[in-house]
Amino acid sequence: MTRQIAIVTGAAAGFGRAIATRLASDGTDIVIFDIDAPGAHTTAEEVRAQGVTAEVVIGSVADPDDVRRAFAFVDDRFGGVDILINNAGVTGNRPTVDITDEEWRRTMSIDLDGVFYCSREAGRAMIGRRPGVIVNIGSIYSLVAAPERASYCASKAGVAMLTRSLAVEWAPHGIRVNCVAPGYADTAMMRELAAVGKIALEPLLRRTPQGRLTQMEDVAETVAFLCDPRSVHITGQVIAVDGGWTANGYI
Ligand SMILES: NC(=O)c1ccc[n+]([C@@H]2O[C@H](COP(=O)([O-])OP(=O)(O)OC[C@H]3O[C@@H](n4cnc5c(N)ncnc54)[C@H](O)[C@@H]3O)[C@@H](O)[C@H]2O)c1
Repeated sequence: MTRQIAIVTGAAAGFGRAIATRLASDGTDIVIFDIDAPGAHTTAEEVRAQGVTAEVVIGSVADPDDVRRAFAFVDDRFGGVDILINNAGVTGNRPTVDITDEEWRRTMSIDLDGVFYCSREAGRAMIGRRPGVIVNIGSIYSLVAAPERASYCASKAGVAMLTRSLAVEWAPHGIRVNCVAPGYADTAMMRELAAVGKIALEPLLRRTPQGRLTQMEDVAETVAFLCDPRSVHITGQVIAVDGGWTANGYI
């Protein structure tokens, strides 16, 4: 089998880094596309330690010119792309009446426009050339709502519908498109917010049937499965990886 090439956006940190490293462990070459150069190069070292090739492209998913440049680089360097992981994202957490035009645009442009720009380039690179896989990283807020997160919820719900739209349009071309919707992640920032009382960890854990936060590996493993031929008949799905949080209608 020829080596697969994956572009992972936002892979300089967090879920993206875990996903890049996990795909690399399956022998997939990785292109990290992020605005954070030091973080991207650290991920590249971790990826290379798995014995595969890692390249870094610095740019924003919200800038269509940067996105075109990233895909042109990958085409020149590898001759195409097999896997796109649309992971880059930011939060938008503020009372709606206080959200400025710029804040609304920032969340929508990175979390939704970015997924569109990257997927469009991936479609152009894949259709008629090779089959492919796209995995979008949504959120539990792709599926349900929370107060003071209007831009985040709207953009992530948009990611869920974009997933379905592209899946039905591109299935005849052998392109599968799915969305992974993680629950609250167990990160250092989360622990710090909990320590200073900005997030109530205890009720959050109580509300989660499995009683724990989402680990990086939970998401990375699901993404790896969706990229694997074992999931060949799965497309257009939004899969919550949240320990049962979105299934739970109880208090
Ligand atoms: N952390 C959580 O609790 C959580 C829960 C559900 C979903 N998510 C989603 O998972 C994804 C990753 O989140 P994370 O927690 O790992 O965040 P993070 O902040 O740790 O990492 C985000 C990465 O995206 C990069 N990035 C930001 N703007 C970018 C841009 N314009 N272009 C390219 N790269 C950019 C950052 O530099 C960073 O490397 C996001 O889509 C987020 O919405 C996170």
